[in-house]
Amino acid sequence: MKTNRICKLLICGVLSLMVGLLSSCDTYRRMVKERSVIMDMDMKKEPFGKTKDGQRVDIYTLANSNGMQARIMTYGAILVSLEVPDREGKPGEVTLGFDSLDGYLKGHPYFGSIVGRYANRIGKGKFTIDGKEYTLATNNGPNHLHGGLVGFDKVVWNSDPIESADAVGVKFTYLSKDGEEGYPGNLNCTVVYTLTANNELRIDYEAKTDKTTPVNITNHAYFNFVGKGDILRHVITLNANGYTPVDEGLIPTGEIRAVKGTAFDLTKPTAIGDGIKKLGQGYDHNFVLNKKKENELSLAATVYEPTTGRMMEIFTTQPGIQFYTGNFLDGSVIGRSGQAYQKHNGFCLETQHFPDSPNKPHFPTAFLKPGEKYQSTTIYKFSTK
Ligand code: BGC
Repeated sequence: MKTNRICKLLICGVLSLMVGLLSSCDTYRRMVKERSVIMDMDMKKEPFGKTKDGQRVDIYTLANSNGMQARIMTYGAILVSLEVPDREGKPGEVTLGFDSLDGYLKGHPYFGSIVGRYANRIGKGKFTIDGKEYTLATNNGPNHLHGGLVGFDKVVWNSDPIESADAVGVKFTYLSKDGEEGYPGNLNCTVVYTLTANNELRIDYEAKTDKTTPVNITNHAYFNFVGKGDILRHVITLNANGYTPVDEGLIPTGEIRAVKGTAFDLTKPTAIGDGIKKLGQGYDHNFVLNKKKENELSLAATVYEPTTGRMMEIFTTQPGIQFYTGNFLDGSVIGRSGQAYQKHNGFCLETQHFPDSPNKPHFPTAFLKPGEKYQSTTIYKFSTK
């Protein structure tokens, strides 16, 4: 009996010593960091290629035990792929994108990208702060779009894995330097993607500046819950009683108009195709979300696809959402598995401050001052019915 207990004690001692040695060892720590299984969550990091100027790009795969999987790379902090189970529990791709880094490097209309410093348009690329006029890079006719020529979608972000009991994620950081694309101030940005055991993909955005600057960061994923073809039978509901009408250059006129009685009334479930029939080209508009109070994390949109049963609810702290129905896709971009993405093959719901806010003082302000913290959260919650 006594010898037995001594043996057990000895084995325990040796084991604890081994664990101690192993955890102090660098390779082991790296192993745990780069591939971890926490409860039923899984994460791995792999090389994904190099940019044209030789910078290394990595891709993270986050997965939960329900079959949901998100792949996000350090180039543009781009959501490369999102797989979500259908009604039968079979996972399938629900976003537009490319199989390899090359597709992203060749140029694309912001598939899955983190967009900034200012998502959407700033009229003529100009705004004024304390009497000083700033001029940004213009890349959409006379206007500034999605951060300019080299926006947040075309830079390599630093990354660190994040783990908790019921979620895995990646924290991306990027310093946008004073003067980049014409913006004032050094802007320290953090974007955290988290996949939860509850089938939510959550994105938290933070930024700090040393000079007053406009900030509006979002994700520009294009969704298609069938995985191919058009999105016209997807059924959308927007929690928005108003929208911001635009001029021919898609710059808001400044008016906030009620949606009631128009094709913009998506407050009741509406097949996207039915809405488009009333409009012509398609949706490319900012909707004014119904909020009880500023910065409230509330339901903004629901999209349901009847054949697969996939459903997505979007919750956000942002005041607006850009509903864009892929009107400018024309088959020239060849994406995943050789698919030529055609008009209306994907839809975007970009949570945001209203377009051209820096020039519309009555819109919720998008100016961030030194000492303040920019903070926003968007959650994409998936289920089936
Ligand atoms: C804009 C569209 C634009 C698309 C791709 C959307 O956010 O509203 O007008 O074509 O992004 O750049």
